[in-house]
Amino acid sequence: MKRHLISAADLTRDDAVLILDTAEEMARVADRPIKKLPTLRGRTVVNLFFEDSTRTRISFEAAAKRLSADVINFSAKGSSVSKGESLKDTALTLEAMGADAVVIRHHASGAPYRLANSGWIDGAVVNAGDGTHEHPTQALLDAFTMRRRLVGRDAGIGQDLSGRRITIVGDVLHSRVARSNVHLLTTLGAEVTLVAPPTLVPVGVESWPCEVSYDLDAVLPKSDAVMMLRVQRERMNAAFFPTEREYSRRYGLDGDRMAKMPEHAVVMHPGPMNRGMEITAAVADSDRCTAVEQVANGVSTRMAVLYLLLGGSEPAVTTNNARTEENK
Ligand code: NCD
Repeated sequence: MKRHLISAADLTRDDAVLILDTAEEMARVADRPIKKLPTLRGRTVVNLFFEDSTRTRISFEAAAKRLSADVINFSAKGSSVSKGESLKDTALTLEAMGADAVVIRHHASGAPYRLANSGWIDGAVVNAGDGTHEHPTQALLDAFTMRRRLVGRDAGIGQDLSGRRITIVGDVLHSRVARSNVHLLTTLGAEVTLVAPPTLVPVGVESWPCEVSYDLDAVLPKSDAVMMLRVQRERMNAAFFPTEREYSRRYGLDGDRMAKMPEHAVVMHPGPMNRGMEITAAVADSDRCTAVEQVANGVSTRMAVLYLLLGGSEPAVTTNNARTEENK
């Protein structure tokens, strides 16, 4: 694996499977009464958030704390960034404080890449979402959730998502989640179909390793997982569809549409959800929707990423077998 995690496209199949397998080990820790490992004791992880976030920020914080790292949470609102301080000066400040890893979310696509390749900081850089570009840890936690649901918790170890059919629906144009998922899921052997109104399909999508359809009803019966994307109003500077009603009617997931999916198929959403827009409340709250499970899996997956980037060669979790070996 590389020293930084900037893009899901940088991960090989073996890197991705290693992260998912490590995340399974981390998830076992979450089942214990004491959910903490000493692995990153003495290391400092900085969460550098220039854009709003609920799930991703607290998930990285929980992940770093469960690995016993010291965590510094920085949000641009209320910091010297509001006074016009540059990314460079912010980065130099973090370096002076001895950050071993910087988890960055930024409204500008490419900001994490700049940070990783600038020489301003020595630590590992993890992209927690940059503009409309990428969100690799979201794709990893999504793949982890799919592997568990579609292959199985134990049966999934060492496995990828070969032959699984994944449909990603909605505002693909503005979605870093969709971009990262297309890269990662195809690396893991899945077949990805994007479904969106023509106005919300990115230019150049022909070069992406996936299919594109405008007909959700036709694709649903052939899907093992259906990932609904939020309509990202904050990134829209024009009208991309006539009305909300029209959007929901053609691209929203309601109970009738969900009934067209195979029985084993799951509904996913990265959050935050626009209930009533891309997904009805009944579908969001149904057993087939993994949104809350994705949040829990996010902590295990981010623990795995931080451990693999910072942890060195020590095993993350001492298993009973390893302890028995030690006592021989
Ligand atoms: C996503 C994001 O921020 O890109 N959310 C998340 O990280 N859970 C998707 C979104 O905002 O719609």
